[in-house]
Amino acid sequence: MLAARTIVDEILDLKRQRNAIILAHHYQDTEIQEIADSIGDSLELARRAQQFDGEVIAFCGVWFMAETAKMLNPHRTVIVPDRDAGCSLVDSCPVDQLRAWKARHPDHVVVSYINTSAAVKAESDIICTSRNAVDVVNSIPKAQPILFLPDVNLGNFVKKQSGRENMKIWQGACFVHATFPARRLTAAKLEFPNALVASHPECPEEVLRLSDYIGSTSAIIEWCVKHPGEEFIIMTESGVSHSLNRRAPGKKFHFVANEQCNCSECPYMRMNTLEKLRDSLHDLRPHVELPPALMERARLPVERMLALR
Ligand code: 13P
Ligand code: SF4
Repeated sequence: MLAARTIVDEILDLKRQRNAIILAHHYQDTEIQEIADSIGDSLELARRAQQFDGEVIAFCGVWFMAETAKMLNPHRTVIVPDRDAGCSLVDSCPVDQLRAWKARHPDHVVVSYINTSAAVKAESDIICTSRNAVDVVNSIPKAQPILFLPDVNLGNFVKKQSGRENMKIWQGACFVHATFPARRLTAAKLEFPNALVASHPECPEEVLRLSDYIGSTSAIIEWCVKHPGEEFIIMTESGVSHSLNRRAPGKKFHFVANEQCNCSECPYMRMNTLEKLRDSLHDLRPHVELPPALMERARLPVERMLALR
């Protein structure tokens, strides 16, 4: 008797028929990460999209990440399982407000976090991610004033690391990371006194001050895997536990709940499901569409970032 076809079989068949690649961010559900061709942070996934030469990119992440993949692949189809997979940081920086900010500071260079809309990228000089933000800012001459947007916590972290005084920072925040309270981290440190703390730079400054390591999602995973320590408190979305447990099976990882959902999951990232992924590969919808001129302008600052090694 033939075994029943599972949804994973259907996805893999559709992937072959479509000549597609499945990219998944670390914040996706485990079952999506398990069938992905590549799992990564936003910088790694942008680089993976840049190297792609098939026909369809199924981007299991949030919309701005898929837009970035589309800018790098204007003639390919980029689909996302759920069109509503947004980002509170993107929402915190409408392009008209950025234009007004730029008009008040015409001599400033605009450094935008990748968590921005295509329209905001098109108004930017260079893009950064949480992994390379300090390097991107350090690549700009010291005397050059900077507008950094939209994440206030990442901005303050970069300002401190780079020692830049002439950097103005937008006051946006990620509603997942910015609501991790330092007092809950302090309580976790008391409960697990041997644990080291690894945090994403979108966390509040008080959380970062209590951390042993600060880095992007992939950088946190790499640090925990390599570190001789056995126990860690992880201050980011709990989807990273998939790679942490796979790559460091003997170690313990604890997560702290935020005040937004009393959990540590990004509700946007978690909108994607296997069923929606299958349907999007079948229908090639929802897919990213951007006006060609906007896409052209937005791609330049992304390529400037990717050219930095
Ligand atoms: P990474 O750049 O670490 O993947 O982070 C993206 C993100 O959205 C963090 O909330
Ligand atoms: Fe955006 Fe925060 Fe979700 Fe990352 S975790 S995608 S910054 S809302």
